[in-house]
Amino acid sequence: MTTATQKPSANANSSRETPPRLVPLPEAPHTTSPVPWLTSIHATPGRGDYGDAGYRGNCSGLLIKDLLRYYRPKRVLDPMSGGGTCRDVCRELGIECVSFDLTAGRDATASGAFWDQGLFDFVWLHPPYWKMVRWTDDPRCLANAATLREFLDRLRMVVGNCAQVLRPTGHLAILMGDLRHEGEYLALPFRTLNIAYAENLVLAAPEIIRFSHGTTSARHKRYSCSFIPRLHDVCLVLRQRPKSAGGTRAA
Ligand SMILES: C[S@@+](CC[C@H](N)C(=O)[O-])C[C@H]1O[C@@H](n2cnc3c(N)ncnc32)[C@H](O)[C@@H]1O
Repeated sequence: MTTATQKPSANANSSRETPPRLVPLPEAPHTTSPVPWLTSIHATPGRGDYGDAGYRGNCSGLLIKDLLRYYRPKRVLDPMSGGGTCRDVCRELGIECVSFDLTAGRDATASGAFWDQGLFDFVWLHPPYWKMVRWTDDPRCLANAATLREFLDRLRMVVGNCAQVLRPTGHLAILMGDLRHEGEYLALPFRTLNIAYAENLVLAAPEIIRFSHGTTSARHKRYSCSFIPRLHDVCLVLRQRPKSAGGTRAA
């Protein structure tokens, strides 16, 4: 176990108590995984030298890299590529990557959006966390959905389009964070899982809690109110529901 080194505080109740900088991780069992450090907690600091680190809402390439080394796909689709993080990880690993983004002209919600691209063993989907970041004025951008219902309906179209081009043995990884809107936490990762179930996808791995290392602005922000800051987003690794299986079908 990695142990935390924290200087004891003079006053345990003080709001100035220094938080631990090292978080002890639970022991992971030994498995035959080709990526033994890949567990349900992805805490690797940094983002790697992948994609455009200045692209708003970009993600780390390190989780993508671990997932690709675990699942070893031959063809990857990245339908919301932003600054090209997934494309660059694939390039390093020698994996074919087909990437699109609305800003480059392809709308992932359009009917049969990827039908002309053949089948994929792995899809990396990193959608907007609804209106957290605004990229363009394009009404087709998920970040510009007027209501949560519209956002979820459009996200479902994207997930359906990805599922359509997933090989029966393939995996779809969706990275989603949450958003506080009008005082309410919207539970976007949970709603995304419901969408996946509705599209006949099931979890192929435990949900992966990805520590949000690399959001450099966070530590400089100050708020005049109290709340519990969110330091992670959630990666859902999904596969097609086996034909014979029953299970939950929720919308
Ligand atoms: C969270 S960002 C992806 C960031 C990317 N993973 C990276 O590391 O740079 C979400 C992206 O989804 C794109 N997007 C939003 N709506 C879209 C749509 N309908 N079709 C395709 N792309 C869309 C946005 O333009 C944005 O680049």
